[in-house]
Amino acid sequence: MKVLALSSSPRKDGNSRLLAQSVLDGALNRGHDTDLVDLCDVVTAPLRDCRTCRGPDGTCSIADGHHALLRDKVLAADALVLATPLYWYGISGQLKIFIDRIFCHTRADLPDSAEVKRRLMNKRAAVVVSSEESYPGVLVGVTAQMQELARYLDHDLVGVVHGIANSRGEVRRDPAGPVERAFDLGARLFDAPVTDYRMDTVRPGAVWPAPSREPAPSG
Ligand SMILES: Cc1cc2nc3c(=O)[nH]c(=O)nc-3n(C[C@H](O)[C@H](O)[C@H](O)COP(=O)(O)O)c2cc1C
Repeated sequence: MKVLALSSSPRKDGNSRLLAQSVLDGALNRGHDTDLVDLCDVVTAPLRDCRTCRGPDGTCSIADGHHALLRDKVLAADALVLATPLYWYGISGQLKIFIDRIFCHTRADLPDSAEVKRRLMNKRAAVVVSSEESYPGVLVGVTAQMQELARYLDHDLVGVVHGIANSRGEVRRDPAGPVERAFDLGARLFDAPVTDYRMDTVRPGAVWPAPSREPAPSG
């Protein structure tokens, strides 16, 4: 399976990127293909007014790497890892711009928009965030947005790892072990159960398979 991490911090030696790399390390450990893109190298301009901005053939005229990133890497991925520092209690502007500009590829008047939409959907997703503050409420905005995005795209949001850190790489010292949890999330990216029950969901009762019986001791 192909796992693509989109790192949205401008700090390439920062905390959220380190968490993203750890998710990828976990996935690689299970034999998956992994890749990481620093959005600041690729996406350099925000969404504009499409009506005035698009070229004669209807495609986006912003000359940066968003088109190639979306078409060549994002659509081809089986799982996406979205990595963001917490900025003003939300995701980074860089990640928001990447998401906003998906609109340029899904507009109904583009000839291949149905195909783009189909290939954007049904992926596994993971989110990693680093923030200076530890109060659980700091993440409410990020998790709400990521859950809604996953619901809209029909992605399975497998997990959110939150590391507490401020200076570069300091997330390694977070005693709650976010780097290790990110690795574990990557390792279980395609196996972890993702459930969202309704009252009438037919369900098995137990979440985890029962341990196989130990052979009775002889003698
Ligand atoms: C513009 C900006 C806004 C920030 N806003 C918050 C915030 O609202 N809450 C918080 O806990 N930390 C905030 N921080 C701190 C970062 O979330 C923290 O340093 C994080 O670990 C940076 O991740 P990075 O190393 O991946 O860039 C902010 C930092 C910057 C530069």
